[in-house]
Formats: sequence, C-alpha cells, structure tokens
Amino acid sequence: MGKVIGYTQGTFDMFHIGHLNLIRNAKMHCDYLIVGVNADALVESYKHKKPIVPLEERAEIVRAIRYVDQVIVTDTLDKGKIWNKIRFDEIYIGDDWKGNERWEKTGKQMEELGARLIYLPYTKDTSSTMLREKLKEF
Ligand code: CTP
Repeated sequence: MGKVIGYTQGTFDMFHIGHLNLIRNAKMHCDYLIVGVNADALVESYKHKKPIVPLEERAEIVRAIRYVDQVIVTDTLDKGKIWNKIRFDEIYIGDDWKGNERWEKTGKQMEELGARLIYLPYTKDTSSTMLREKLKEF
C-alpha cells in the first residue's frame, strides 16, 4: 500500500490549542500531511472579517509545526479543485462542521473522487473568535 496523503485547511488565526490538536490528530491518520492556509481575501469572503495575523505569518507558524509536511496557501473553499492539484487520500475537518450543508456535499464529492472526509474531535472552549472576544474585555 502507498503512503496516505492527508489534507486539512483552515485560517489558523491566532494559532491556538484547538488548531494544534486538529493538526496532531490529522497526522495520526496519514503519512504526509498537507495543510492549506486560507488567504485573507478568502477568509473575508466567508467569515466576513479579516484575520488578525497576516497570511504569511499564519503560514509560517503552521509550517513550523512538526506534524505538518507541507503548507499551501488557499484561495478557494472548493475541495474538489484542491484535490485536482494535490490528490490527497483523506481530508480532515473538525466535527464542529458536522451537519453543515457545504461539508455534507464535500463528503459526497470526495467519495466520488475516491478520497475520504474524516471529522476529527473539535476542541471545546477555544477558537479564534473566542480569543478575539476575550481581547475586547481587556
Ligand atoms: N478547530 C478545532 N477546535 C477548535 C477550533 C478549530 O478542532 N477549538 C479546527 C476546525 O474545525 C478546523 C481547523 O481547526 O478544522 C481550522 O479552524 P479555523 O477556522 O482556522 O479556526 P477557528 O478557531 O474555528 O476560527 P473561527 O473562530 O474564526 O471560526
């Protein structure tokens, strides 16, 4: 059997323990982990806010994580387009996205391509949004 190529994608703004847990878990499923870091314009288009940390810095931090084999910068949420480029075997996302219409569709699309969508446990009580809110209190 060949090596399993895994893929996960996110914004990774104000890198926190939830991000680390997700990436560590992802690497436990595959041999080679590629992480897509969302470009600022993409984040604005679906989260309707700018990341606090600039793209180049977010990418550099993720690249330095020992579980990460490769970082790509992403300007699309279309996982089919990304699969066409890097042909991953598995794609991982936190289970906070379970039941989300876009991800349900992505799961089916991945099956058709011969890849697998795997939901990994979401870390409770932290997120970039929560950190942003906490900072407002100071
Ligand atoms: N994630 C996680 N646990 C958290 C936060 C995020 O497992 N507490 C996962 C997400 O499910 C996703 C990846 O980390 O697979 C990247 O998420 P991202 O959107 O970059 O981080 P969030 O902190 O969720 O950002 P936001 O608050 O802006 O939604």
